[in-house]
Amino acid sequence: MREKLEALLQEAVTELAAIATEEAFHELRVKYLGRKGALTAIMKGVGALPPAERPLIGQVVNSVRDQLEERFDAALATIRNARKAEKLREERLDVTLPGRRRPLGTKHPITLVREEISEIFAGLGFQVAEGPEIELDYYNFEALNFPKDHPARDMQDTFFIGDNLLLRTHTSPVQIRTMLKHAPPVRIIAPGTVYRCDSDATHSPMFHQIEGLMVDKGITFGDLKGVLTIFVNQYFGRGTGVRLRPSFFPFTEPSAEVDIACVICKGKGCRVCKNSGWLEILGAGMVDPEVYRHVHYDPETISGFAFGMGIERIAMLKYGISDMRLLFENDLRFLSQF
Ligand code: FA5
Ligand code: MG
Repeated sequence: MREKLEALLQEAVTELAAIATEEAFHELRVKYLGRKGALTAIMKGVGALPPAERPLIGQVVNSVRDQLEERFDAALATIRNARKAEKLREERLDVTLPGRRRPLGTKHPITLVREEISEIFAGLGFQVAEGPEIELDYYNFEALNFPKDHPARDMQDTFFIGDNLLLRTHTSPVQIRTMLKHAPPVRIIAPGTVYRCDSDATHSPMFHQIEGLMVDKGITFGDLKGVLTIFVNQYFGRGTGVRLRPSFFPFTEPSAEVDIACVICKGKGCRVCKNSGWLEILGAGMVDPEVYRHVHYDPETISGFAFGMGIERIAMLKYGISDMRLLFENDLRFLSQF
């Protein structure tokens, strides 16, 4: 019986060494130490021994049971430690890894350009004025000397809302609203959104303009040229060529369109400037006396100039953007470059 017990102990030790999980451990423990286990089975035989041998065998049984318990406890601790070490390895945190940065928003290029241009004119004493995007025909056309059925209305394809209501096609109505509210002198810029039924790579149905208006005693075409030259030199760089070309607007006389030397080829001629070396950036002119009649200014005592530039066109020139639609698609890969 003693040999049986020792063999049992050896067998248990060997089997214990081979297991790796708690489940297997519990199964093995039942097999050896459970109520119907191997040790109990051997102990049942103790009653059949001669009474003199029983105490001795009893001692051996107890000793083997103690040893088994000890071995099993040690094995369980080993399994649990291994599991814990594995878990720690799996859940390891590298605190030296850099964090994930949240992407920072940037200003839209149209906003950037509007702010930069406004700042230059603020430095020249111009104040910012505003007007509504839904405008009366009177301010958008009539008071700017576009009579009804005048062919010049075709220069700007208009979104009409009603007979006398429309989406403003330019920021020039702010000239009228400003002069109606303030006696001269006035010196304002009016940035804003405008709308035309127009759409291709260089025309958008919704776009932005900055209007300028300066009226006072003794303002001349020389002042217009001087102010715009200062603007071009500050915005596009000192020495950028400026050219005024005769043009026509119903509300200015004389009128001009202003070109700058192509920022891409520096005036040599390229695809962007269609080999002319020049790029148009705005329309301008001396305020027509007919306009003063609508705002009750006296053209005999004052004079002034006005200009209107497209912000998208200026942004395209400044940043070398080839398609205006990029400015409205809101692709983050494009916007995050600014
Ligand atoms: C005007 O809108 C006049 N109100 C400008 C003006 C103001 C002249 C004051 C005299 C005195 P024009 O239609 O040319 O003019 O437009 C001016 C600028 O707006 C153009 O030079 C161009 O840069 C921009 N522009 C015109 N149409 C579009 C369009 N569909 N999409 C984007 N930009 C445009
Ligand atoms: Mg034009």
